[in-house]
Amino acid sequence: MLTLRRLRPAVLGSLLVLAAACGGGDVTGTAVIPTVPGIDTAGNRLVLAALDIDPTALPSYAMQVLPASYTPQVLQREDRGAAGNPITDAGATLGRVLFFDRRLSRNDSVSCASCHVQSLAFGDTARFSLGLDGVSRATAHSMRLANARFNQSGEYFWDRRAPSLQAQVIEPIQNAVEMGFDASHGGLTAAIAKVNAVPFYARLFTLAFGNAAVTQDRLQRALAQYVRSIVSVQSRWDVAVAASGGGAPFQQPMPGFTAEESRGQQLFLAPPQANGLGCAGCHVPPSFSLDANSRSNGLDAGETRIFRSPSLKAVGMGNRYMHDGRHATLEAVVEFYDAAVQPGPALDPRLANPNGTPRRLNLSAADKAAVVAFLKTLRDSAVVTDPRFRNPFRR
Ligand code: HEC
Ligand code: HEC
Repeated sequence: MLTLRRLRPAVLGSLLVLAAACGGGDVTGTAVIPTVPGIDTAGNRLVLAALDIDPTALPSYAMQVLPASYTPQVLQREDRGAAGNPITDAGATLGRVLFFDRRLSRNDSVSCASCHVQSLAFGDTARFSLGLDGVSRATAHSMRLANARFNQSGEYFWDRRAPSLQAQVIEPIQNAVEMGFDASHGGLTAAIAKVNAVPFYARLFTLAFGNAAVTQDRLQRALAQYVRSIVSVQSRWDVAVAASGGGAPFQQPMPGFTAEESRGQQLFLAPPQANGLGCAGCHVPPSFSLDANSRSNGLDAGETRIFRSPSLKAVGMGNRYMHDGRHATLEAVVEFYDAAVQPGPALDPRLANPNGTPRRLNLSAADKAAVVAFLKTLRDSAVVTDPRFRNPFRR
């Protein structure tokens, strides 16, 4: 019997004709018609010379195996970018190369990955990340991108100003401090021209979209596909959930957890009327993305802006916390929720007493430590080491 591998050239040959006959595949409306890339040995060689990527054997991104706790209802509620921009191996690969390419900044000094570091679940240790001039800093703390895919409101950035992930991913390129292609420096058109001038991109765009054209829409789709592929589903918590039956209600105690971690989970999950802290009312398992109706958590008195939180998966891996990175440790975060939530028009009622004053939790030292211990079970060493998300540039 012929193996699939041996069949391939023949299959490719006949499909090639088909692709040529219909002018290659591309995006029409919201649907992406899959394309069959031709054999382009010279293009493949250009890619291989610059990148740790073999165009004839791309890593798998399209086949995502999610735990059973990500039920169809969870995906419908949270996987909002899936419609119209499904992850393909070639699309996510192109997104990964763009994500690590410093040429996306005006002076070739920063890439997306400068501020979104894989070993930090794609966040930053700096309170405010350094921009392209090496001196100026971003105005907010860099957000962890692990599980950015799961988003109940569909809005991105701390202050929710981006209406979708695809809208978000081109903002940093056009930001004067971050990557520097603002309107006075040619805008996105100038960035696109730069990408166009790099020979290996012709092959990567062709693999992803059927021809070599570099367009805004394609940058958006490819970067969004790569970011959406970065899911965090292998934390100790995920392992324990799988071992305890695969979904809610989450067992108490959790298999493989210490008594302290199980106590922390109970405090995190249970609502106040069941002697819990109600954290999960806003940071919702299994993805720990923020409830779409969440208002602010009262960091500053009188605050009117309503902030969102990234998913808490892979939290506690060296980052700082909150939109301005004010908290350096998870202990400080728990202290804040215990005793320092501030009043203001944006404060969520779930963190307030019936008369509107901020709620005080009055946690014991042991319970504070338990909540921290539980948050640390969400750390995910798989996502921070996965070779599919790694810097592909050879130098
Ligand atoms: C100079 C640092 C810097 C660079 C470069 C940078 N980012 Fe960011 N990123 C940030 C900061 C800071 C935020 C939060 C900004 C805010 O909310 O105002 C952020 C937020 C995001 C978010 C929102 C996540 C969420 O859950 O809402 C995504 C997605 C993202 N960045 C992707 C990218 C991509 C893709 C690139 C490259 C095209 C990139 N970033 C380049 C610093 C950076
Ligand atoms: C009313 C909804 C709500 C509740 C309840 C809530 N949070 Fe939050 N949480 C938020 C919001 C909103 C942010 C982001 C705030 C910001 O940076 O402006 C946040 C941020 C965080 C962060 C930092 C995330 C990051 O990446 O910087 C952690 C950790 C956290 N919360 C843990 C908890 C814990 C533990 C509890 C329970 C004691 C809890 N939260 C209860 C809404 C909530």
